[in-house]
Amino acid sequence: MANRSRPRVVRSTTQMRVRNLALGALALALPATYALGKVVAFDRSPPSFELSGRPVGGAQPALPSAAHLTATRITALADGALVIDADSGALIKTDRAGKPIAQVAIGREAGLLTYDPATGLAYVADRKADRIAVVKVGGALEIAQSWKTPAEPYSVALTPDKTTLLVVTIADRTMVALDAKTGAEKWRTALGREPRGLAVSPDGTRALVSYLVTGTVDQVDLLESHRAEHIAISSSTTPRRGRRGGAGDGEAFARGSFAVAFMGSEQALVPFQRETPVQITGGGENTGGYGGGFESPVSHQLAFIGLGKGGNTSQVTAQIAQHQPRALAWDGVRDALYVAGMGNDTILQIKNASQVGIAEGLTASLTTGKDKCGPDGVAVTADGNLVVWCAFNRTVQRIEVVDGKGALAAAAKVQAGPQLVASAMSEKQHTGYILFHSAEPAVSARGSMACSTCHPDNRADGLSWRIEKHELQTPILAGRMLGTHPFKWDGGDPDLKTSLTSTMKRLGGFGLDKPQTDALAAYIEALPSVRAPNRDAQAVARGKKLFDGEGCRTCHDGASYTDNDQHRFTGTLEKSDTPSLRGLAASAPYYHDGSAATLEALLRDRGAVHGMANTTKLTDAQVADLTAFLETL
Ligand code: HEC
Ligand code: HEC
Repeated sequence: MANRSRPRVVRSTTQMRVRNLALGALALALPATYALGKVVAFDRSPPSFELSGRPVGGAQPALPSAAHLTATRITALADGALVIDADSGALIKTDRAGKPIAQVAIGREAGLLTYDPATGLAYVADRKADRIAVVKVGGALEIAQSWKTPAEPYSVALTPDKTTLLVVTIADRTMVALDAKTGAEKWRTALGREPRGLAVSPDGTRALVSYLVTGTVDQVDLLESHRAEHIAISSSTTPRRGRRGGAGDGEAFARGSFAVAFMGSEQALVPFQRETPVQITGGGENTGGYGGGFESPVSHQLAFIGLGKGGNTSQVTAQIAQHQPRALAWDGVRDALYVAGMGNDTILQIKNASQVGIAEGLTASLTTGKDKCGPDGVAVTADGNLVVWCAFNRTVQRIEVVDGKGALAAAAKVQAGPQLVASAMSEKQHTGYILFHSAEPAVSARGSMACSTCHPDNRADGLSWRIEKHELQTPILAGRMLGTHPFKWDGGDPDLKTSLTSTMKRLGGFGLDKPQTDALAAYIEALPSVRAPNRDAQAVARGKKLFDGEGCRTCHDGASYTDNDQHRFTGTLEKSDTPSLRGLAASAPYYHDGSAATLEALLRDRGAVHGMANTTKLTDAQVADLTAFLETL
């Protein structure tokens, strides 16, 4: 593209107004308007930056943290950047202008990396091959070693003394500590479901792990116990004028935390989505939309978590306009924090981020012409500027936020590099990939929600949504689409495109056109299955026998374990479509209404769905075996 190399100056808009938030933020409470009928419209633009209370910062600036303490998609090198692209699976080194210098294949759907500038070694998580690739970063990129890990490694970070490499794995839900020289395992600890972000405190006492679906951030003690302690992310927000708790007053959940960062050793940041799946409508069930209310059930937040001595924690949240905040980085020298939103292609600067004088800084758009960036990584360079990894067009953008004197500049200059690598997707799938992750008014009212809002990483948010008088659980999509028609829990949509069209209508979007809907379907259909955790092979074999013997295959049969038919059980739906059982380990809670929290609960307590199968005769050992089998599907 011709205009790629021309720097784009991003001017001040109303979003960039600097407000001193320590003095108390003013809520931007707009009157809610809505369309009658089945379609919901939300009339509440998210405030660009609004804090829920007094910031947690102290009087002294926090100590800067080093890049090797965090798992990231992109890291700044002295003369460029190093990035791991999940789409193609390539590790790429670029120069300052974002032009390619060297490349090495790691593996498609690769996880994150961390880099030690002292040794010139990068540690890259190969999510599909269950290994860490140790790569020598020089004029070329060379895989020096390959270390085995538990199933599905995603995040990696070094401890401050660089003796230990911490690896977080998704399918096996563990943090494993490897010797950073040999790759030998030192210890491991159990984590919760769907871990993603990883950061180590500069003092090396703890690591934090963020999650897509637990509503917590875990603090792992690195010195003694190595155990993970859960810190609940506060999902309450500033009360708005005339309202009690914000959107719909229903219970709100913190979801979709792809990243975590430290500012010093006692203050951490976790971006998240605040989701209110069941809104209180005041009696009238007058909408068919998601959440059941007239307000957007999703907003985007940044939690400032104070980690005090003796396990004390405190929290303040800021509402931000960055849709699906996927990446963040802190410039400890200038105390500036950067948060990038994949859904609306913007990056926010927060000044004095660790201090009481915290204030909103610049907001820069990352879109070049019509070409969306899709930021999935951001890093601060040695001179205080930024490099951003654009997952959609596979470019590195350099954002200049520092002036000639090394101070924060009044405007940001964005410069996009060339496309670095071809996508492994077909053109149609790639179009669908961007649509899936973008907050567009075609998809949802005012672009308040993207498909990936509720289906993060092509999975599910683990919540049950109020839709047309039912509470319906978000299903995972990965590996579950082909041959599993009809769609939706009641089997109401005969094919995928019909299902997508009805989803956009429910979300209040005006709808994508036919080629775009085809592209979205092509993307979803091609998604690989989620990875199964490792389970004892004998237990799995015994469980399979039970599955075959207990009549489960009457309905759950074939490659996707479904008969493509509906059944009438005692429950809230008139009839339920037989769901695919693929990826069950990642799809809790279970049943259409999410009434069975675990597979054990489904087999024992039956949730709200009665009469599917009689498993009351099974012994505890048999339930454990059957569960082990189901988890490997
Ligand atoms: C607000 C959360 C939310 C958003 C946003 C969302 N979904 Fe869903 N999705 C759900 C829930 C809940 C269901 C189950 C609904 C039902 O069964 O009626 C579902 C069902 C589906 C299904 C049917 C799966 C099956 O196995 O039957 C597909 C496909 C799907 N969503 C794709 C998408 C796409 C594509 C988008 C973006 C256009 C999207 N979803 C946006 C929550 C969401
Ligand atoms: C008569 C058909 C039928 C039989 C037999 C049957 N199922 Fe199901 N199964 C269904 C239907 C329909 C649902 C969805 C019910 C709902 O949520 O309303 C379901 C849901 C499930 C779910 C939840 C999936 C999810 O993602 O929430 C699991 C797990 C499951 N079945 C396992 C089994 C096992 C194990 C057996 C044998 C012991 C079995 N089923 C027997 C039809 C059947």
